[in-house]
Amino acid sequence: MNKILTPWSAACCFYILLGCNGSQQTNLDQKSSDTMNTSTNRGITLTQQTFGKYDQQDVTSYVLMNEKGMEVRIMNYGGTITNIFTKDSSGKTGDVVLGFDTFDGYLNKDNPYFGCLVGRYANRIAKGQFSLDGKTYKLAKNNNGNSLHGGLKGFDKVLWSATAVGDTSLQLKYTSKDEEEGYPGNLQVEILYTLTPNNELRIDYKATTDKATPVNLTNHAYFNLSAGADSTILGHQLLLDADRYTEVDKNLIPTGQLPAVKGTSMDFNSPRAIGMDIMKVAGGYDHNWVLNKKGLELKLAATLYHPGTGRYMEAYTTTPGIQFYSGNFLNGNLTGKGGQKYVQHAGMCLETQHFPDSPNQPSFPNTILKPGETYTQTTVYKFSTK
Ligand code: BGC
Repeated sequence: MNKILTPWSAACCFYILLGCNGSQQTNLDQKSSDTMNTSTNRGITLTQQTFGKYDQQDVTSYVLMNEKGMEVRIMNYGGTITNIFTKDSSGKTGDVVLGFDTFDGYLNKDNPYFGCLVGRYANRIAKGQFSLDGKTYKLAKNNNGNSLHGGLKGFDKVLWSATAVGDTSLQLKYTSKDEEEGYPGNLQVEILYTLTPNNELRIDYKATTDKATPVNLTNHAYFNLSAGADSTILGHQLLLDADRYTEVDKNLIPTGQLPAVKGTSMDFNSPRAIGMDIMKVAGGYDHNWVLNKKGLELKLAATLYHPGTGRYMEAYTTTPGIQFYSGNFLNGNLTGKGGQKYVQHAGMCLETQHFPDSPNQPSFPNTILKPGETYTQTTVYKFSTK
């Protein structure tokens, strides 16, 4: 596992460049009630509002805004991105992620991980078990006998403690206890959400442990760049900088094979409408693409374009893989923001991640974090129009 704090240090330099003072940290959780603590930094503001109650504690929505009119709302329940407002090519603002208008929506048992942080291990671990140093660990199973997205109560279903770092960033912390959902070791997790003046939402992930444990963290935002104009993402054009993907079985568990995408329905090396070949892929797209990269450098992994509104998004990441999930299991049963029915393919995820089931796949990049090491991950979603 990566011992160097490169992305995190880079983030800190970034704040310094922006003129933030990391030592002036404010614990936002200590404040209560509506819209307060407004301050500005290079045109970015961070405010907060009460959003609901969970476990008798306040759930707070933190609102980052920049001078270009981009606005990101994140709540401390699940570290969930609830809204991303960006402008289209005519200057009209719209919300480009799926979710609910009120907190209660997020507690719906059928909430398919809208916008949340995912951990301790994003994606699937086969049969909900893995062996480490001669010991077999049994995890909470929640998906066809497998463990998905951290188990029954993953990082998406806990309250994170929130702190403002300068005015551009929200830091979220969570301690995942030894044996939580079956995972070994007390894991200290820190997430930093940053909005930049250039319409970038940057997510820096960091974790340390006191026992060896698998770690794979991501965010599960469902994008629809039409902001409600199109009921599905099938007309969006996607590019994935990946020559291979991790082949899966019928339960979406990797077989260990990494087939080439060239000339197949999985080939997104040039921008292509998602709907073009989706019918040829059993169940729709729900696969991990193996990103073309040398190591853990921050590199462009994906672009997404909605021709109708001109909205364009680039995803940069340090991770070796990206899960493109085309919202296959949405079925119209969930009513989201503004009364929208979320039909199949209403939104899509670009989950930057390590490969699924890596703890059981010796040929995949290592996901075991050991005491003394620091897990890091950085992903940037950049919004513009063209
Ligand atoms: C997975 C899907 C799963 C979805 C849950 C995605 O990350 O790849 O298989 O159904 O999360 O909403």
